[in-house]
Amino acid sequence: MILDKIDKLLKEVNELKASNAEEIEALRLKYLSKKGEITSLMADFRNVASDQKKVVGMKINELKQAAFEKINYLKDQYETAENDSEDIDLTRSAYPIKLGTRHPLTIVKNEIVDIFSRMGFTLADGPEVEDDLHVFTKMNFAADHPARDMQDTFFVETNPEDVTKNILLRTHTSSVQARIMENSKPPIRVICPGRVYRNEAISARAHCFFHQIEGLYIDENVSFKDLKQVLLTFAREMFGADTKIRLRPSYFPFTEPSAEMDISCHICGGVGCGFCKHTGWVEILGCGMVDPNVLELCGIDSKKYTGYAFGLGVERITNLKYQVSDLRMFSENDTRFLKEFEAAN
Ligand code: PHE
Repeated sequence: MILDKIDKLLKEVNELKASNAEEIEALRLKYLSKKGEITSLMADFRNVASDQKKVVGMKINELKQAAFEKINYLKDQYETAENDSEDIDLTRSAYPIKLGTRHPLTIVKNEIVDIFSRMGFTLADGPEVEDDLHVFTKMNFAADHPARDMQDTFFVETNPEDVTKNILLRTHTSSVQARIMENSKPPIRVICPGRVYRNEAISARAHCFFHQIEGLYIDENVSFKDLKQVLLTFAREMFGADTKIRLRPSYFPFTEPSAEMDISCHICGGVGCGFCKHTGWVEILGCGMVDPNVLELCGIDSKKYTGYAFGLGVERITNLKYQVSDLRMFSENDTRFLKEFEAAN
């Protein structure tokens, strides 16, 4: 009689189903709680003949175990189903993903690099922490040149016995010229973008670090005419086909002859405005023919080869393109400023 009851319950337990937490709890109460069906079997167990007790006891334990396992199994299933549905809620709206923006100086640098790449220049770079040898000595700076002074240069380490071993933050990307010439043979045609440092008080118009792009071309029979043509092409690609250029004689220790290049003011179209100080022209770069002394100091035969070099200011060109009035904006990383360049990315 009791064995029949146990078998019936065992069958019931094996077929249990539930679809939510309440139903599972109800089953637990029905079978496993103190007042549940299985516990109540114990009352009947007392009346079982003693020679049957062992068999019946084992059966009750088997039933208890089966009920316990089944209810736990239902619980597990329900919980995994619940988690799964949480992971893929197809009705939830997407998170708004905020995209970053490229820095205006990066945008302009990429554009400049692109223009020169199309003219056959390849990229090169060098260290920002440099030695005097590459920043000054090999670039033909006289030992007493003022640029070597503390007032212009940030020193990392000075070497009183041998100034060429002084370690400093490069003051121009022309140091990369020296490195390239040392390590490669003409023809050389490279552009080298990078950050440079000068010991200047920070203001709207000056900063202690800024960015340059150096250009260097060395081959047989390179002339000033080639330099002028490349720069004119660059100016027109960058600022539009009607842009004019003007080369003014200048001086750099590493080029001879040297020049500074102005372009017709992009903002007023050359008629004169605040930006060009009412001259109609804006200076954007320094350039010249590589001084034969530099070629020799860097191991290139100056009888056979000639070359030109130029160095342009990325901030300057960015200001012209986007009329940024304060140089400090470039390094403050104010997202309100950076977001203005979203469309240019
Ligand atoms: N290095 C110069 C500067 O920083 C620019 C320059 C580069 C001039 C190459 C001539 C040739 O002002």
